[in-house]
Amino acid sequence: MADLDDLREGAEFGLNETFVPQGFHVKGAAHLPWGMKDRLSRIFNPQTGRTVMLAFDHGFIMGPTSGVERIDLNIIPLTVYADCLMCTRGILQTSVPPSLNKPVCLRSDAGTTILTELNDNVLIDVEDAIRLNASAMAVMLAIGDPVFEAKTIANLYKAVDRGSRYNIPIMGVTAVGKQMTRDARYFGLASRVCAENGASIVKTYYCEGFEKVAAACPVPVVIAGGKKLPEKEALELCYNAINDGAAGVDMGRNVFQSVSPAVMIQAIHAVVHDGLTPKQGYELFMDLS
Ligand code: 5RP
Repeated sequence: MADLDDLREGAEFGLNETFVPQGFHVKGAAHLPWGMKDRLSRIFNPQTGRTVMLAFDHGFIMGPTSGVERIDLNIIPLTVYADCLMCTRGILQTSVPPSLNKPVCLRSDAGTTILTELNDNVLIDVEDAIRLNASAMAVMLAIGDPVFEAKTIANLYKAVDRGSRYNIPIMGVTAVGKQMTRDARYFGLASRVCAENGASIVKTYYCEGFEKVAAACPVPVVIAGGKKLPEKEALELCYNAINDGAAGVDMGRNVFQSVSPAVMIQAIHAVVHDGLTPKQGYELFMDLS
């Protein structure tokens, strides 16, 4: 075991040094095989290197929560504005028309719901991801959870082993336990653990000091939106995350619980890809609304 004495917090994040892409637009992917790069290019726009992922996998732990009661009515009309869809295989097969032709980041672990103990998850077969033509597989990690940390890290590296055989990139999703402090130290550790175990994308949360989280993670970081915020604040969140080094967003509630979900995702898209400020993004939201 590593000697934990004198464990020093990182301080040299090179925040003034921009990441050098090494000939490919996705961070850390320059040396990956063709199939991986093709799938990552479907998720991350080659022109901007960024992505707006629409997450609507909430039902797999929460059931028909607000905004995802009817996928056909609430979600499908938004998908045209998303760069990538994040959902479970059940929703994909039953409710998402294959003719949409959107890349899918397939929620690839499941186990428990909000009614019991979250995070006790197992992996779906990689063959299912292949059958569904997934562009990536998403696996959740409960870093810092004394009961589920080891199991969920094992889920990630098993998914990486299996995904690598077929060139399917894995997204590590950092869940935050109630006992965890939502700060840059925690998200930096959790994100880095995902990348160290082979994740090609990390999904985590924005926080103060996020630039260190993004800088120390050798693969692209996308942020979850979290609970519903007023639209202007949600656009500020997107802008700040991109400004601090995120490669995009993977948002759910701040889109589908908005008063104008289709307009909100267009405003987010403009902030992420076109560099609109939060003020400009909000003006766009108001104009289109
Ligand atoms: C849960 C997830 C969700 O997809 C994620 O939290 C995004 O949704 P929201 O923006 O509503 O937080 O990965 O594990």
